[in-house]
Amino acid sequence: MPIQYQTFLATAVQAVQEAGLMALSMQNGLKQIRYKGEKDLVTEADLACDQAIRHILTGAYPGHNLVTEEAADLEHGSPFTWFVDPIDGTVNYSRGFPLWGVSVGLRDGGEMAAGAIYLPALNELYTAVKGGGAFLNGNPIKASAVSELRGAIISHGDFNVGPSEEMQLELNRKNFLARMRMAAALQRVKCLGSAVVEGAFVAAGRMEAYCMVTMKPWDVAVSGLLVTEAGGKVTRLDGSPFDVQGPDALFSNGILHEDLLAVLRLDDGG
Ligand code: 2AM
Ligand code: CA
Repeated sequence: MPIQYQTFLATAVQAVQEAGLMALSMQNGLKQIRYKGEKDLVTEADLACDQAIRHILTGAYPGHNLVTEEAADLEHGSPFTWFVDPIDGTVNYSRGFPLWGVSVGLRDGGEMAAGAIYLPALNELYTAVKGGGAFLNGNPIKASAVSELRGAIISHGDFNVGPSEEMQLELNRKNFLARMRMAAALQRVKCLGSAVVEGAFVAAGRMEAYCMVTMKPWDVAVSGLLVTEAGGKVTRLDGSPFDVQGPDALFSNGILHEDLLAVLRLDDGG
């Protein structure tokens, strides 16, 4: 692992902690809640955290590319690209649910190099550097050892996400049918409502899998690295290699990956 990756990680940690504490301090007095889509929120805290993180990253690495959820991409032709979700799980955050987080990670060429996820309401900081393992508050974490579907927990991405109302309805239908199949095969089917929390919980071994469709790179960049570094597996739903800019992903403990893909792929009647 290049020694430089630890320096990148330190910057990611600084960024998620500063933004996370800012978001926590703003949570009770939120005035401005705007709808990006009919059911898609953005709060003043999302925008303030996005700005704070951009300030840290552009100050430290002015030549790197930057992709954040709430502002325009910065493209400098660098092999290094930062992916930032200033608040993931905004609906949870805006209602006082503790399941939301801040995610900042760096891709070097085609592969994630380092990243941090901070869950301020749970006081949990997840970190990973490629080839260096995954950590929760400084302690190594491992994906779960559960080896039978009937003992497994999966979280599915939310209903009502997608670029258009028509696509949301179609995805809701597929999501519903996939959950029914999962419920028949697994111990529990959940929806925690934050991709970075769901990825982090798979890495920490709290559940066996997380399935996401219509994903954005900032939702999955760091949690994909975390799960892999914790000994788990991440692929697209068709089983092909994971890509942060791809359409969907299954995060798992690795042991159950093929079994889970098979249940997800079963014919749903269209
Ligand atoms: P957000 O809170 O940053 O918007 C909800 O279960 C999860 O899906 C959250 O991680 C949420 O991220 C994400 N999400 C919400 N709307 C989305 C959309 N249109 N496309 C992709 N992901 C979305
Ligand atoms: Ca977000």
